[in-house]
Amino acid sequence: MSLLPERVELKTPEQIAVMRRSGKLLHRVHDMLAEHIRPGITTDQLDTLAHDMIRDEGATPNFLGYQGYPATLCISVNEVIVHGIPDDRPLQEGDIVSIDGGLIIEGWHSDAARTHIVGAPRSSADEDLVRITGEALWAGIAALATAERVGQIGAAIEDHVTDAAGETLSHLEGFGGHGIGSAMHQAPDVMNYRTRSRGPKIRPGMCLAIEPMLIQGPGSWVLEDDDWTVRATGGGRAAHVEHSVAVTEQGLLVLTEGDGGAAELAARGITAAPDPLAAG
Ligand code: MF3
Ligand code: CO
Repeated sequence: MSLLPERVELKTPEQIAVMRRSGKLLHRVHDMLAEHIRPGITTDQLDTLAHDMIRDEGATPNFLGYQGYPATLCISVNEVIVHGIPDDRPLQEGDIVSIDGGLIIEGWHSDAARTHIVGAPRSSADEDLVRITGEALWAGIAALATAERVGQIGAAIEDHVTDAAGETLSHLEGFGGHGIGSAMHQAPDVMNYRTRSRGPKIRPGMCLAIEPMLIQGPGSWVLEDDDWTVRATGGGRAAHVEHSVAVTEQGLLVLTEGDGGAAELAARGITAAPDPLAAG
């Protein structure tokens, strides 16, 4: 650990335009996967679908081989919080499935996750978990639009979860988002809750992956023997959602959202940056 903060890679508008291509393809991969989620499909099958689509589009999966990671996606079912490895277990009605993926176009990375409920939800607690995790992500993104320091993102996520869920949901402590750009994981860390660090100043050209992870009940967890799977041990299920977001001179661009974040940001009184891909 260094005493000096790691340098944050600031992107040019041209580089952000390529990151938007990367993010927009990833958004389409997630849309494709959403259409295949149903009881009986295995997480291995979803992984193959994502891998083939990314390759067919001329892009490169960035999780595959990352520190030895064996798949294109992380798929985390029910009490698995993050970094679940796809396998041959069929999904069942009511399962909570968090799918995390990423890809590279011309050297520029994207990273995004969605959480789905397979078929009918098992309980209103499961619906609340998934809804509040999604809202927490947008609360964090909205904070980025007006904040001065990266630490304010986690504070906004924490406040939303406390307001919406009281003590019924816990954060996954020790995990968070990150800078993203010419590598998948860059400085700075983007925590999902308040810490003692204010974090670096937010500046145009910064690109951040924001990724709240929430657990029903207590936040206790273990790392499984595969050295990847992070599993809740308090009896609750978990959800994880993520977007890669660019800070530009014209405002925020949600790189991994279909409309660049325009609708969700407008609902929070924020005008998204113009989408560099919208015109052409
Ligand atoms: N979105 C995940 C994260 O930021 C990426 C997982 S890396 C992998 O933690 F190696 F597990 F794929
Ligand atoms: Co990430």
